[in-house]
Amino acid sequence: MPMGFMPLTRVRCEDPLAAPLKGGVPARNFNLHLQSNFNFKTMHDSPLPFTPELIERIAAEHPTPFYVYHEEGLRQRTRELYAAFAWNEGFRQYFAVKATPNPHIVALLQAAGCGADCSSVAELVLCEKIGLTGESVMFTSNNTTTAEFAQAARLGAVINLDCPSLLAKLQQLPALPEVISFRFNPGAERSGNVIIGDPQESKFGCSRAQIIEGYRRCQELGISRFGLHAMVVSNELSVSSLLDTAAMLFELAVLVQQETGVAVEFINLGGGIGVPYRPGEQPVDLQALGSGVRELYAAILEPAGLAPVRIMMENGRAMTGPFGYLVTRVQNIKRSYKDYVAVDACMANLMRPGMYGAYHHISILGKEDQPPQGPVDVVGSLCENNDKFAIDRQLPAAAEGDFVIIHDAGAHGHSMGFQYNGRLRSAEFLLNDAGEFRQIRRAETLDDYFATVDFAEVAAGEAAGKQDVVGAAR
Ligand SMILES: Cc1ncc(COP(=O)(O)O)c(C=O)c1O
Repeated sequence: MPMGFMPLTRVRCEDPLAAPLKGGVPARNFNLHLQSNFNFKTMHDSPLPFTPELIERIAAEHPTPFYVYHEEGLRQRTRELYAAFAWNEGFRQYFAVKATPNPHIVALLQAAGCGADCSSVAELVLCEKIGLTGESVMFTSNNTTTAEFAQAARLGAVINLDCPSLLAKLQQLPALPEVISFRFNPGAERSGNVIIGDPQESKFGCSRAQIIEGYRRCQELGISRFGLHAMVVSNELSVSSLLDTAAMLFELAVLVQQETGVAVEFINLGGGIGVPYRPGEQPVDLQALGSGVRELYAAILEPAGLAPVRIMMENGRAMTGPFGYLVTRVQNIKRSYKDYVAVDACMANLMRPGMYGAYHHISILGKEDQPPQGPVDVVGSLCENNDKFAIDRQLPAAAEGDFVIIHDAGAHGHSMGFQYNGRLRSAEFLLNDAGEFRQIRRAETLDDYFATVDFAEVAAGEAAGKQDVVGAAR
């Protein structure tokens, strides 16, 4: 049976007891019978990579909401990206850990060939714990402390400096890193979007003049290996816009060489490859992107004598976004001035719609073929009126208990979770094409929520406080 990127079209459930997946974590084996016609390029028109029965089985043991990720989708996407840049020896995708900081997923992508892009100590520690270190890790931080740089240097990570002024912090380390990269911000030359903001208004990166000064300073300090980076687009579906970033960086690399003699050994085009969140949107043609970058490389870097240069990317969203689903359940149907489908997930589980009005496709499991019954708001239970997954969305009639699937939630989804109102972060599951699933993160419990306070101290403090009040009154 082919093991590609498949829908589960017919299902037979057997004893769900542990059939271990490779890696030792017990899996529930459903012996699903599969047919392969799933085409992720038209994600919303295609069957889901799981069946209602499978979701029922997970939900029977684990309360909703939870995230599920499609393992083969993650691998397939990595293969596609590497195939698109196969012309460039040394091409590397550094997965932006912040998108989906689950160690199982980062390890899966590591096994598929990815490095990791980290921006915090927690992300560095995650990588270290799974044996992802050295130049397989890029540290792209901002507002960084010396202690944070020390952690990155201890791992041997490539340090990507937000600004040359941070060299002063690096000089406080026992030794300077061998390789340094700088993050370029083109300012008024480029425009941004609601996610990443306008470059001119953005706190990230620094100007062309600062970058040139930065390389000069590094040379004086004896640093000998260099890279160049920018992250100026986010959720970008246009190949030509992504190519603008490549052209901009290639030209800057030539200028740097002319001005300072520094020949960068890698150019990191950043992340930002978009996800077709809305039905009808077209995914980025990765082959066209790879070929376009190749042409720019030949037109700009080769004539300048800069080749070979390793091309790098640090995508997050495109790697995991389309392959993650937030599974939630209808708790209440409410009709007042509007009609509401109220689910047991909330903005604390997926913040993007509430934070910047991001669209996530929503379907009601098993009712995909039913006609819409009028516009509804799909809402959570936070005491915040922007706790809405969709506003005026046309959906089939929902009933209490229905599973609601929120699509393309695999990146910047669970990771942006928070605990406001004491709503806790959910479990995460990995599904494979053999129809197995395994829990890769348990749901938080109230014990987790209260773990950072000591109720005994509260009681003692209260008692002391009462005495003070009584004492003061006397
Ligand atoms: C420095 C940096 N690199 C990469 C990414 C990943 O971006 P995306 O998920 O849009 O590919 C981000 C996202 O916030 C980022 O800040």
